[in-house]
Amino acid sequence: MCRRIGILTSGGDAPGMNAAIRAVTCAALSQGVEVMGIYEGYAGLLGQEMKLFSYHDVADIEGKGGTVLYSARCDAFRTAQGIDEGVQNCRTNGLDALVAIGGDGTLRGAHALCQAGIACIGIPASIDNDIVSTQVSIGFDSAVNTAVRMMDCLKDTSESHARCNVAEVMGRSCGQIALYSGIGAGAVGIAMTEFFFDQDALLLRIAQSRKQGKRDFLVVVAEGKKEDCPTYTTDLAEHIGSHTGVETRTTVLGHVVRGGAPSAKDRLLGSRLGAYAVSLLLEGKRDLTVGVFGEELCAISMETAQAWDILYRDALQKENGTQSQQLPPQLALRHQMMQRDYALCGVLGLG
Ligand code: F6P
Repeated sequence: MCRRIGILTSGGDAPGMNAAIRAVTCAALSQGVEVMGIYEGYAGLLGQEMKLFSYHDVADIEGKGGTVLYSARCDAFRTAQGIDEGVQNCRTNGLDALVAIGGDGTLRGAHALCQAGIACIGIPASIDNDIVSTQVSIGFDSAVNTAVRMMDCLKDTSESHARCNVAEVMGRSCGQIALYSGIGAGAVGIAMTEFFFDQDALLLRIAQSRKQGKRDFLVVVAEGKKEDCPTYTTDLAEHIGSHTGVETRTTVLGHVVRGGAPSAKDRLLGSRLGAYAVSLLLEGKRDLTVGVFGEELCAISMETAQAWDILYRDALQKENGTQSQQLPPQLALRHQMMQRDYALCGVLGLG
């Protein structure tokens, strides 16, 4: 019996989280189930920062960036003591279930809470799109759109000055924001950890194109490239400048791509997944993470989601491509699509 559901957003915020909060709230209230908004993620659960939500609390939030529930990263919730306190606080506040919205750390927290006795459903929200149990996470589409807009700006000024700009984008170890914003903004090259980046070919391409009259050059770097070499982005810019004669600047887009109004796609995704999470809880389901593959909503067990995450990371390390055949079809497809699009970037970068 589910009479009161808690809802929280945790980890890095993502545009579209508010649409999910609104959908969870409306879907639950419409079924006579109470909703407790928990502020600042798991930290707020531990600190009992929460209040009962009415329709009014979530009115008109679908178009707002960030999260009205605020967010935090909470190290205390990674400990057994933190989980115990979380369970206790759920019980004290009459929470029969919890919907946790956030990235892989948030979903891991929800799984731990569920193992300890609280029914949880996770909703993947992260600009990075690094959660493999869904084809796309809430926030990714908005982040790519924002990054493309910023890169268009960089190209304007690059063209005026006949320059190259090396733009670094967030994404942690996942290069999807770099790949898709780079293609959208017409990058001449994209450096990401998942695929080999041919720097010499890039230098040649820039030098030749400049000779033929092209004036603006955009190179996109995924922040994961800095894991092994913290100065990767500036080193690359320096290299391009000195080897091609094209004056080169660097721009770190940073947290800019995490802010701003969510795209229509993210509002829709957040709304669908939020309502779906509630319907699963009301059917008595728990310990699941929801997502989308193609047009289909899906729910897979948190354990499977974590196993997929490990499988996918292993496969990437053993790369190139050969391993993707042994992956579950959803993961193999994810990788094949990235490979295809990375190759496309190589072709488009010639123009
Ligand atoms: O996971 C989302 C993300 O924005 C990553 O792309 C980035 O590496 C990280 O969070 C930044 O975290 P913080 O906001 O804590 O600096």
